Amino acid sequence: MRLTRYFLPVLKENPAEAQIVSHRLMLRSGMIKQQAAGIYSWLPMGFKVLKNIENIVHEEQIRAGHHPMLMPTIQPAELWQESGRYNDYGREMLRIEDRHGRDMLFGPTNEEMITDIFRSHVNSYKDLPLTLYHIQWKFRDEVRPRFGVMRGREFYMKDGYNFDLTEADALHAYNRHLVSYLRTYERMGLQAIPMKAEGGPVGGDHTHEFLVLAETGESEVFYDARIEDIRLGAREIDYGSVAQCRSILDEFTALYARTDDTHEDAIFVETPEEFRRKARGIEVGQIFYFGTKYSEPMGATVQDAEGNQVPVHMGSHGIGVSRLAGAIIEASHDENGIIWPFEVAPFKVGILNMKQGDAGTDGMCEQLYSELTKAGLEPLYDDREERAGAKFATMDLVGCPWRVTVGPRGLKNGVVELTNRKTGESEEIKPELLVSKLS
Ligand SMILES: Nc1ncnc2c1ncn2[C@@H]1O[C@H](COP(=O)(O)OP(=O)(O)OP(=O)(O)O)[C@@H](O)[C@H]1O
Ligand SMILES: [Mg+2]
Repeated sequence: MRLTRYFLPVLKENPAEAQIVSHRLMLRSGMIKQQAAGIYSWLPMGFKVLKNIENIVHEEQIRAGHHPMLMPTIQPAELWQESGRYNDYGREMLRIEDRHGRDMLFGPTNEEMITDIFRSHVNSYKDLPLTLYHIQWKFRDEVRPRFGVMRGREFYMKDGYNFDLTEADALHAYNRHLVSYLRTYERMGLQAIPMKAEGGPVGGDHTHEFLVLAETGESEVFYDARIEDIRLGAREIDYGSVAQCRSILDEFTALYARTDDTHEDAIFVETPEEFRRKARGIEVGQIFYFGTKYSEPMGATVQDAEGNQVPVHMGSHGIGVSRLAGAIIEASHDENGIIWPFEVAPFKVGILNMKQGDAGTDGMCEQLYSELTKAGLEPLYDDREERAGAKFATMDLVGCPWRVTVGPRGLKNGVVELTNRKTGESEEIKPELLVSKLS
């Protein structure tokens, strides 16, 4: 992308309404625009980031054997009356009446709808296990939308639902989700710690929330500091292996880690004092096992091997896809702007032309632009007639993992400068070696 052709409405001033750094940087770098309280447009660069996050979520869910699909945003009220949640959900639910006077709602989550789909089409235990998921916009009329996309009213969420014959099978699905979520967050450069949590309106007391530690997080958390050293890393995972998924769950949940809803001082004191931490975190996901809470009232049953009709065991699993854009920035920025982890970066390399209009630098920038594009490295070329200082500021704000600076002095010596956004380290490199270095 060439900056002169792009739509990147950067702001020079800090927007007054933004209280936290991710909100400020998303507005300043032209990623989002607020349209109403808690409702945002995703401008081209923000949209690219959102799609990169979404793609990682898809890849990891498909790898775990879960099937992507798409349910609508608008749901009929009847399904929620069947489960009994229509009244329970209260004012967070946006209720709509259509022209025929039918009660509809903008879905805050999809347990009821997926259960309806399941009961319409699945009758036998032979079709289990089954996990379906989608990534779709949700609406929750939050009392206090704030912090930009972190607590929106309209937000983008991955929600998945497992259907299993037995509790043991459903617990394997739970563990499988835990592992796939850990992989998902690590690919985004995040450490999200699974913490024992509370069920809330989804129900069930078997649940973990995934929290990214950050001072601006809305949740208060208590944990054993040694948990910060555990990583999934590049280990080989067999999602069919009950033992492996279970052992990863055990590994990640052995140490104390709880949100304030489930925190118990009496248990926490068993952790040596030097490791006890009280901190704040951003909830980027949650997994639940809730047994037959929905399948029983909604009649989602299958025939088992003995010919009995039995309600299926279910769980649901959510990732805050749009919230993650903010959470990643909270976890990765400096005073000059965003520092994108490679996989979510909207552009992997920025090309900065120090002397626009100079035949030498223009020619080299064009050449690098074309080579990097061919190599799939998605360059962002700042080809504006601007002072170098302004270009550096924009590049730092936008936060590409790498920057190539092309100036007349370097070219005289046959080199360009390659800078790592995160470490700030620069090296001179021959332009012909750039692509192989970055690939
Ligand atoms: N208002 C929101 N704006 C952005 N993301 C959200 C919002 N509410 C929930 N999410 C994201 O969706 C994920 C799954 O939804 P879940 O039903 O667990 O949310 P929740 O527990 O009600 O969230 P919270 O406690 O933050 O209100 C959450 O872990 C979070 O990352
Ligand atoms: Mg939650």
